[in-house]
Amino acid sequence: MNYFNSLLKYISLLVLVVQSASVALSTRYVCTLPGDRFLTTSAVVVAETLKLLTCAFVVFLQNGCDPKRTAAFLYDSVVVRRGDTLKLLVPALLYTLQNNLVYVAVSNLPAATFQVTYQLKILTTALFSGMMLRRSLSRRQWGSLLLLFAGVAIVQVQQHGRHKGPAVDSSSQNPAVGLLAVLACCVSSGFAGVYFEKILKGGSASIWVRNVQLGLFGTALGMLGVWWKDSETVSVNGFFFGYTPMVWAVIFNKAFGGLLVAVVVRYTDNIVKSLAMSLSCVISTVLSVYLFDFHVDHLFACGAAMVIGAIYMYSTATSMSTTRIWRCSLQTLHQIPYRVDGQLSMVDS
Ligand code: C5P
Repeated sequence: MNYFNSLLKYISLLVLVVQSASVALSTRYVCTLPGDRFLTTSAVVVAETLKLLTCAFVVFLQNGCDPKRTAAFLYDSVVVRRGDTLKLLVPALLYTLQNNLVYVAVSNLPAATFQVTYQLKILTTALFSGMMLRRSLSRRQWGSLLLLFAGVAIVQVQQHGRHKGPAVDSSSQNPAVGLLAVLACCVSSGFAGVYFEKILKGGSASIWVRNVQLGLFGTALGMLGVWWKDSETVSVNGFFFGYTPMVWAVIFNKAFGGLLVAVVVRYTDNIVKSLAMSLSCVISTVLSVYLFDFHVDHLFACGAAMVIGAIYMYSTATSMSTTRIWRCSLQTLHQIPYRVDGQLSMVDS
């Protein structure tokens, strides 16, 4: 891995931490505002379309801003190699379901219960990574993932107990439906994420072409969801009913986040992505309650420390290879031989 890729990896991880914290806060905000509620099925379609257009634009730039060349390239990548394109149908179907089910889960479960249960995707991701990518984790890494889950759970449950929030009409909520929805999201997130990683790293197509393929299926399947669930409302109120500037901001944020996930998975892997997202879960909790007069108590500090400790534990389990990469880069850059005792020294030529 060269220096540029390494830098991109850390920048994309950092941005993912900030992005997923902000998307959690803003989604909760738009879903709890009084007044006309936007259609979540249409929001899924708009986010998919935005991702598709962005990736097509990047392909256009990569083809020297030549529309004919771009069209020929995309035709070849998507239509001629349709067998390759069809592989993306599986993650597209799962992500479309998942992106819709997240809204079902949020509407039927208390926010904290949803957040905690959704963290189970860390474990499903690790399981599928082992099964599909033959990426075995050491006992220490499994231990760190369990610690991570426990840490996030403590942070969320503690906050739930502290901030009861405004009274919610629970008669319209069905916790069993919410729980089933979030569990399905966890399985989907783990499987689709690892499947996409396998396709991305196993072939020659770029991350942008892969996302064009994913976005085409995602948009079509999302439209099917609108037709199936909200066709009547759309015919009466329109597709963009209830879209405020804030709703648009959330959709843009979600689309950006999806692309960021793809970049992070390209340069690292799905488990590292899960670690970043768990850290952002703690940050978003601090930020959300800070805005409402947050007070750190022992339980919160304990949960947050467990999350940070777990991330450290997981990453130091792979630090040998990272150190080796740095040593190799230094050697190549400065052409200085590396001594086994760990010290750099110039040699007389
Ligand atoms: O929670 P999880 O990490 O599974 O969420 C992944 C999100 O990233 C989904 O909303 C999915 O639509 C999006 N994604 C994407 N492009 C990819 C991979 C994921 O838009 N290549």
